[in-house]
Amino acid sequence: VSITLAGDIVALHTSMLADTVRTDAFRRAIDATVRRGDVVCDLGAGTGILALFAVSAGARRVFAVEEGPVAAIAREVIAANDAEGIVELVVGRSSSVDLPERADVLISETLWNLGVGEGIVHSVRDAQRRLLVSDARVVPQQIDLVLAPVESPKAYRIVQTWTADLYGLDFTPLRQVASNVVHAAVLGEDELLADPARVGTVDLVNGGDDRLHATLRFEARRTGVLRGIGGWFDAVLAPGVRLSNAPPNEARSWAQSFLPLSEPVQIEENDTIDVGITLSLEGEQWLWSVKARGVEHRGSTLGGSLLSLAELRRTAPTRRPVLSDRGNAVVQLLEWLDGDTPVSDLGPRLRELYPRLFPSDEAAESLVREVLERFT
Ligand SMILES: C[S@@+](CC[C@H](N)C(=O)[O-])C[C@H]1O[C@@H](n2cnc3c(N)ncnc32)[C@H](O)[C@@H]1O
Repeated sequence: VSITLAGDIVALHTSMLADTVRTDAFRRAIDATVRRGDVVCDLGAGTGILALFAVSAGARRVFAVEEGPVAAIAREVIAANDAEGIVELVVGRSSSVDLPERADVLISETLWNLGVGEGIVHSVRDAQRRLLVSDARVVPQQIDLVLAPVESPKAYRIVQTWTADLYGLDFTPLRQVASNVVHAAVLGEDELLADPARVGTVDLVNGGDDRLHATLRFEARRTGVLRGIGGWFDAVLAPGVRLSNAPPNEARSWAQSFLPLSEPVQIEENDTIDVGITLSLEGEQWLWSVKARGVEHRGSTLGGSLLSLAELRRTAPTRRPVLSDRGNAVVQLLEWLDGDTPVSDLGPRLRELYPRLFPSDEAAESLVREVLERFT
């Protein structure tokens, strides 16, 4: 069996539940949104806390949808709170599950440092099509994305470290990758070089475009070294209930985001800083350009993704794929899952048929485990 150790899960959820700004804001939004007798879907239920808040708010039935191993903890928390009669745990990714009844309210705390980026837009839209009533209420209702030019030498270490002379070796390829990643960083208010500006609003209730694009002009408040663009969210969870991780950050379970420049730029007070930003709303691709003092930097998460051209071509719509040797081994293995063959025979049989593909018992057992976990 493959065992998931609970350490990281406990640490993550401890930090989220210790963040009372976050949790209290969601509780207020749930109290303001859920009406007695509602059916509620908590998309990304984690430990089950928001599902249980929905019960306190009067929900008749709550579906707690969770894809991660924390679902096992949610099951026990729901039982410990005698809520099994109301909260039904649905294990799986929301886009792969079905609910026995459409929900009146969707709650989803799947907010990333920059608002979108954990797939919240696509998950909510999919839920609206398949899992919710047509005029369902949604928490959060909207997410504003906010950017500001930042100085932050601390955040920039992740780029700065990789030089042409590190231990006498050239590590500039890593610098190239690091300057094309949207990093998490804790930004202080005093590190902002200009007033923040809103990129746009993601409307989770009414939907909208799949891409967000903005060009923003900032004016430097002071002389400093521009090292990147900081970003955060400002969300409306329910009318009158907002939650933000803007610096100085009170919602401690989030950091902010940092979109770095490949080289720092010295700027003077009142300088113009032009920023262009485009993002796909499933949060997977970001493009940013920053122009200051006549120097332009362009960043793209594609450049930081370590994807080779060969990997990209693998899923090209025009490709006509054929099975690899490993693919043939999987087909063979699936045929042996006939209800008669014991698990202990599967690895040795694979090694006998494909000795070059599985040079060790461990290699064969790992494929057997993967196939058994996914398909049996
Ligand atoms: C930030 S945690 C929030 C957990 C909990 N709702 C809370 O407020 O403490 C987000 C959880 O959503 C889960 N998740 C994210 N997207 C999901 C999806 N589309 N379907 C199911 N679970 C999802 C993650 O595994 C994670 O446990």
